[in-house]
Amino acid sequence: MHDVKLPGAPDGEQALELPDHLVRYYWWAYLRPASIRIFDRDVIVSAILWGQYRRLCDLALEGILPGSRVLQMACVYGDLSSRLAQRLGCKGRLDIVDIAPIQVHHARTKLAAAPWARSFVGDAAEPGPDRYDSVLSFFLLHELPDAHKHRVVDAALAQLRPGGRAIFIDYARPAPLHPLKPVMAGVFALLEPFARTMWHTGIRSLATQSEHYESSNRDRFCRKGLQNRSRLDDAINKAPLIRSFFDSA
Ligand SMILES: C[S@@+](CC[C@H](N)C(=O)[O-])C[C@H]1O[C@@H](n2cnc3c(N)ncnc32)[C@H](O)[C@@H]1O
Repeated sequence: MHDVKLPGAPDGEQALELPDHLVRYYWWAYLRPASIRIFDRDVIVSAILWGQYRRLCDLALEGILPGSRVLQMACVYGDLSSRLAQRLGCKGRLDIVDIAPIQVHHARTKLAAAPWARSFVGDAAEPGPDRYDSVLSFFLLHELPDAHKHRVVDAALAQLRPGGRAIFIDYARPAPLHPLKPVMAGVFALLEPFARTMWHTGIRSLATQSEHYESSNRDRFCRKGLQNRSRLDDAINKAPLIRSFFDSA
């Protein structure tokens, strides 16, 4: 552990040692000031998420009630966290936990106008003592080695209050002849070495005690009623991304 005081951090907050997989494979995306300058733009986030960003954010926010308590696992580029904070309002609470101090600092800057939204340095795989109405993981799982995927899903479920809901939005198995499949396979091979597991492993199977939760996979992001669109538009609108819910009894 390095004893690092983060800008704007509560007294005593320490940086954690960054996991090898993050430093090795994702340094360019998250760990440099230039990464934030380059990637934290709507047009870039939208491109990375196959043109689905707006819709994915809407789906992440759906069902989150004003005044409720939400844990967001890991910072995200774009305006999802700001929209989440606005939706919760000042009677709600948003806690964001990210392992990279630079991302936590950036989130604090972005959310400065919403003091009920707080960002912390922490490992999403280590459950904290608080319990939440909703826990959101937005494109975190596919960036983690498989053992970490399990730990993060278990930690999300462990931090739900009874009746709470964990929401995972991430990659899913593409149809065998999906036209984006080879493109995604190429991107995964080049840049996202842990993502391919999401094609073969349902999120439910990542949970150690899934039997205690009602789960449903919703919205494989097939827009209904598509007409007069090109095959590529159609394919992109059916990009293999998924929203998975876990409801605690
Ligand atoms: C949520 S993911 C990807 C999000 C998506 N690409 C986007 O920006 O919209 C990226 C974040 O996960 C964080 N992260 C990676 N491993 C983590 C862990 N074990 N605990 C908490 N945060 C983690 C990284 O530091 C990074 O800020």
